[in-house]
Amino acid sequence: MRKKLLVGNWKMNKTMAEAKSFALAALPLVSYAESKNIDIGVCPTYLSLDIVKKTNPKLIIGAQNVDYHTHGAYTGEIAINMLQEIDIDWALVGHSERRSYYGETNASCNLKVKALLASAITPLYCVGETLAEFEGGLTKSVVERQVREGLKDLTKEDAKKIVLAYEPVWSIGTGKNASQAIAEEVCHFIRTILDDLFAEVSEEIRILYGGSVKPDNVRTYLSSPNIDGALVGGASLQVDSFRALIENIAE
Ligand code: 13P
Repeated sequence: MRKKLLVGNWKMNKTMAEAKSFALAALPLVSYAESKNIDIGVCPTYLSLDIVKKTNPKLIIGAQNVDYHTHGAYTGEIAINMLQEIDIDWALVGHSERRSYYGETNASCNLKVKALLASAITPLYCVGETLAEFEGGLTKSVVERQVREGLKDLTKEDAKKIVLAYEPVWSIGTGKNASQAIAEEVCHFIRTILDDLFAEVSEEIRILYGGSVKPDNVRTYLSSPNIDGALVGGASLQVDSFRALIENIAE
């Protein structure tokens, strides 16, 4: 049985002071979620990672990006050992905004996934098609390439440690969320690829849906057999809404 997972991606929102006050207000949510057998986490900006971790150490804290080089002349980037130094648990890889605005490719995602696994940080690998690809009937071929190339050369032991998120680009921040049927169909399709790549461990890998998830629709997604949680942008920013998301997925 895969444990449910709710992750908030704050994107480029919240000053350090705002992030700290969310982390404080979220202290009771951690024990509530634990009692309901749900993992919860947030991905603040790099600047706020440390303060959120220190304020709420049991919340899963993820970076929104990371570089795969160990150090060197990579202006503006952050290395994995810098995340480790402040006990960061997870990192997003290949979010569609990184792919579309900053040139992230399946190959660079693969390097990041492997570097994170080598450092015992959980990669949350994001895939999803654009509106043009969706309308062109290309969803499965695009997602298949993203999964196969992004997870290339991983062992089964590695694969057990990763989390995937299916986020159709056309549903991110648009209020046009994918129907439950589409989300489940694609997440099921992803699981068949994982079956092919990693055979017996594929059932252990969590797959999240993301894209305009709100407190009033989160439960529907999570009632789907292959959707194990949600990656939430806008609705994760306010602690009341984050709490409502958790409450609505609790049994
Ligand atoms: P929204 O929930 O704001 O649509 O964002 C989804 C997302 O991109 C999470 O990573």
